Amino acid sequence: MTKEEFTVLRDFIYEKTGIYFAETKTYLLESRLTNRLNELGLSSFEDYYYHLKYGADKAKNELANLFDVVTTNETSFFRNPPQLDAFKILLQKAYLNGNSSVPPIRIWSAACSTGEEPYTLAIMIMEMMEAGRVNIPFTIVATDISTKVLESARKGVFSQYSVRNTDEIIKKKYFTEESNVYKLKDTVKKNVKIDFMNLMDDNAYKLYRQMDFIFCRNVLIYFDEKMKKKVVDHLYECLKPKGFLTIGHAESLHNISRAFKPLVFPGTIAYQKG
Ligand SMILES: C[S@@+](CC[C@H](N)C(=O)[O-])C[C@H]1O[C@@H](n2cnc3c(N)ncnc32)[C@H](O)[C@@H]1O
Repeated sequence: MTKEEFTVLRDFIYEKTGIYFAETKTYLLESRLTNRLNELGLSSFEDYYYHLKYGADKAKNELANLFDVVTTNETSFFRNPPQLDAFKILLQKAYLNGNSSVPPIRIWSAACSTGEEPYTLAIMIMEMMEAGRVNIPFTIVATDISTKVLESARKGVFSQYSVRNTDEIIKKKYFTEESNVYKLKDTVKKNVKIDFMNLMDDNAYKLYRQMDFIFCRNVLIYFDEKMKKKVVDHLYECLKPKGFLTIGHAESLHNISRAFKPLVFPGTIAYQKG
């Protein structure tokens, strides 16, 4: 990949996804795109760029393939327990303590990858309802830019690696184990609606309003400051007053937004809409 090819592709990917490949990541980008070139029978990255930019209908499909290969989809069930503990506390405080007339709790897992995050939240709420003998209606919507991971999320079949931090009792209760894979039961799957949504698309946010909780973990890290600000401003608008935002544990809103009130919990911070 020449320097010029890298620059035009880097800028194109940034514009479409917000993901910014620094020059030091030239090799990474090259290796991720090589398969696409081979599959399309193209002989240079320049041709690939022209195909994406001017290739009419075929290029629209290729955009989805591009999103699949430039994204990093690492995730797992019960990832970062301190954040989940904080979620449980907030949920209990706000909605479960003797408050029997709450409207459905609306939760959005933005950048959900293969679904482990939203399904974890669904399992947690189901467990809380069972323990408290209460029925709290809730809806979870889970979105991502990669159609490949969304397809996998819809299937709900997970590897051993994916459930490595999942309690044995939870595994037995909510999954069916079959030749080393874990199939999530429909009782959990039916609580999570899975959709395509590109966080760069200003118009798409209007479908995700009035949220009580937004989980947007481990995706801001791929964006530069300008894109982080844009996304976080939108997420703020998507929350109900006093709703909560959770970002990745290695991510911060420092220099990004002052609109949220940080709430400190053991090992983590949750951000509340002011
Ligand atoms: C590392 S995964 C995080 C998964 C999950 N939130 C977690 O923390 O375990 C990052 C996800 O962000 C998605 N992503 C990247 N850019 C995006 C964008 N512009 N809009 C929506 N999703 C995006 C990727 O496809 C990927 O699945």
